[in-house]
Amino acid sequence: MYIPSFLTSVKQMFSNGGLCGNIAEIYSMYKIVKPNVTLKCVKCGQTYIPKPRLFLCPKCGSLIDVIVRVEEFKWDRIKERRFGVWRYRELLPLRDGIEPVTLGEGGTPLIKLQNMYEKRIINSRSIYVKFEGANPTGSFKDRGMTVGVTIAKHLGVEGVIVASTGNTAASAAAYAARAGLRCVVVLPKGGVAKGKLAQALLHGAEIREVEGSFDKALEEVLDEVIGGNLNEYYPLNSFNPWRLEGQKTIAYEIIDELGVIPDYVVVPVGNAGNISAIWKGFKELYELGLINELPKLVGVQAEGAAPIATAWLQGLTEPLFIEKPITIASAIRIGRPVNWFKAMRAIKESEGIFITVSDEDILNAMKILAKYEGIGVEPASATTLASLIKCVNEGRIGRDDIVVLVATGHSLKDPDTVFKILPS
Ligand code: F0G
Repeated sequence: MYIPSFLTSVKQMFSNGGLCGNIAEIYSMYKIVKPNVTLKCVKCGQTYIPKPRLFLCPKCGSLIDVIVRVEEFKWDRIKERRFGVWRYRELLPLRDGIEPVTLGEGGTPLIKLQNMYEKRIINSRSIYVKFEGANPTGSFKDRGMTVGVTIAKHLGVEGVIVASTGNTAASAAAYAARAGLRCVVVLPKGGVAKGKLAQALLHGAEIREVEGSFDKALEEVLDEVIGGNLNEYYPLNSFNPWRLEGQKTIAYEIIDELGVIPDYVVVPVGNAGNISAIWKGFKELYELGLINELPKLVGVQAEGAAPIATAWLQGLTEPLFIEKPITIASAIRIGRPVNWFKAMRAIKESEGIFITVSDEDILNAMKILAKYEGIGVEPASATTLASLIKCVNEGRIGRDDIVVLVATGHSLKDPDTVFKILPS
């Protein structure tokens, strides 16, 4: 089996004594997470105690899920609480006494489209946009960072480190600043939209740039954290399952606000962590008996950066990694998505689909969403509307189906692209 080099690096963690965190960190972790929380390998099912740096199963090398055994959860008991990530505290892995590092993330608007159907731009009339651009740093990453940085702070690490196409960097930088931690961000040189770079700088992150794509930046992070100088830093990319626990709240909020189960939830896919987290959220609600059906997921990739979707469309069960991913949607310009297994499993379990969209369709969708509905999103988020238009035109999604588009980032993130699509 071909193991991409960054995963080989993660594997080395286990030859380093196999502790997955030093003794002090592992001890701290006990005080941070609830007693009923375990880690579980996504492939072989082996379970482990909650170690802060256990990112790959020592037995089979696959990624890890956090399992929170919830005794009881009632919607009416949480209704009084602020709408946002921490409203669902019972379903999150952190102990009640742990004070979160928070900027009020989550609780984003679910906006029903009202003009596009009437103007016959799309023949579907129950489309909602979950506007993640309304998060404190303008993307869904804040949901993950509030959990991830809280853990980092309580572990007593020096700082946090992330590879990023931009949004993770902006979010990690802001939450690290809030927590009084350092933040190192490793970025693909020339591959990050201006707004995101500006945010990371503003919040005081140390920026390192690498030649090549995001995938190269991620390798660099692992090298630094494992063998390099930054082993006091806690990595918060989406191979870290604790971060994804925050992101699963997108699913909770959709059900909480909509009150019904959507037929489809459409999610842009880059490193494939978010779609995996959202599916985990829906499944947890289902397993708790809080919903009696599950939505179908639609995972969208840009044509030139579609290692998972291309493979899936060919009936393959493993992705076709790409060395040089190309798309205008820089946020999802990723050739070797770490979470591919979780994402492919999510699509299979939900009986959903993967789909690709062209850059032209992405920019068109970005324009019409802004012009007809007043919703400004960045290109990666516009893939959702682009794919919906495609699915509706092909008759795969019907006029009355309830569809939620997860619009992951704000239009202000990428002003250069906005200027590019405006009429001159
Ligand atoms: N949409 C936006 C706006 C993103 O920034 C990202 C990922 C995605 C979608 C895809 O999410 O990776 O979980 O599948 N951005 C990462 C970053 C890679 O570094 O900011 P995913």
